[in-house]
Amino acid sequence: MDQTFTHEIEELKRSGLYRDLIRIIGPIDAEVSIDGKEVILLSSNNYLGLATHPKLKEAASLALEAYGTGACASRLIAGNMEIHEDLEKRVARFKGCQCAIVFSTGYMANIGVITSLAGENDLILSDELNHASIIDGCKLSGAQIEIYPHKDVGRIREILMQEDRSYAKNRSKKRLIITDGVFSMDGDIAPLPEIMEVANQYGAILIVDDAHATGVLGENGKGTAAYFGIKDENLIHMGTFSKALGTLGGFIAGREAVIEYLRNKARSFIFSTALPPSVCASSIAAVDILEKEPWIQKRLWDNVTRFKEGLENLGYNTLDSQTQIIPMLIGDTDLTMEFAKAIFKRGIYAPGIRPPTVPDGKSRIRTSLMASHTYEQIDRALDVLEDEGKRLRII
Ligand SMILES: Cc1ncc(COP(=O)(O)O)c(C=O)c1O
Repeated sequence: MDQTFTHEIEELKRSGLYRDLIRIIGPIDAEVSIDGKEVILLSSNNYLGLATHPKLKEAASLALEAYGTGACASRLIAGNMEIHEDLEKRVARFKGCQCAIVFSTGYMANIGVITSLAGENDLILSDELNHASIIDGCKLSGAQIEIYPHKDVGRIREILMQEDRSYAKNRSKKRLIITDGVFSMDGDIAPLPEIMEVANQYGAILIVDDAHATGVLGENGKGTAAYFGIKDENLIHMGTFSKALGTLGGFIAGREAVIEYLRNKARSFIFSTALPPSVCASSIAAVDILEKEPWIQKRLWDNVTRFKEGLENLGYNTLDSQTQIIPMLIGDTDLTMEFAKAIFKRGIYAPGIRPPTVPDGKSRIRTSLMASHTYEQIDRALDVLEDEGKRLRII
């Protein structure tokens, strides 16, 4: 046993694909202690800083006292507590949808929705830069999968047009389009209005993954559809509580019939224990904050503008980032990892991202901003990025 796996691990190390854990002491905040070093955290998804918000902590404590630590069964057996339903109603109201269903993680939400809505006889169109949970859901579904070039609406149309010719023969074949709203490694935004138009034209189902858009894009952080002013009731929204909302879990919001169907079909919902009640309580508190304290969202965007402008003035290539996720493209994998180490030594934590997470030659430092970063921290980070970038001849 040991020999087999040690050999595999050595292979990973040799090919530069070995991954190691860092250890953070204390809460996930703008500055943290990693492996004994105080650093500015430039890579968390705690975009609004809510993971340490007093109202979320208070809600969790009260629920812990009232309901205990765990749900201890799946929702359909004996784990469906009133707080799960409260959270689903709160999410549906927030998203302006008829209904919502919560899953224990965003990963499970994607697996659940994709494998329920598409099966062996169906077709899924998926953006080439979609998240791994979408890729896994597509594979598990057994459906025919068409990966389209990043944000290429023309190609989606072409695939559906070709498909339409055979559609007459097989009218029960479902066509599903799925896209990240905000792409997790590039920070750009999907052209949702155009994709929605094509989906409607060809009777395809459209799912948007708002893992990185929830709490960030659109009025009160309602997500990608709100950002574009899309009110189409047929759009299926996936989102997570685990990033800007500072807790844990995923959700699907949409029409009541779709949600009812998922309750009956989604295996990651049916065969897994329901979320702990304290987590649900803090997620509800987080949604309340999005609506009551929009200044936090604005603060995040101010930080994004300051940091991105700073990077671009220094000559970094931030690709097409339009959001709080801002890559710094370096290209070469070894140089990227050396740069990540150098900035860590100088008090900045932002990891190098390399293949297979990103394509060959597209290694990068992936940074993400938080509302809780101060201007002083952002400027300090820019100073380090300038020094080290020049020293290593990246800029
Ligand atoms: C685009 C996207 N979708 C889904 C997920 C999965 O969400 P979670 O971390 O809540 O499982 C992630 C998180 O990494 C993501 O980036």
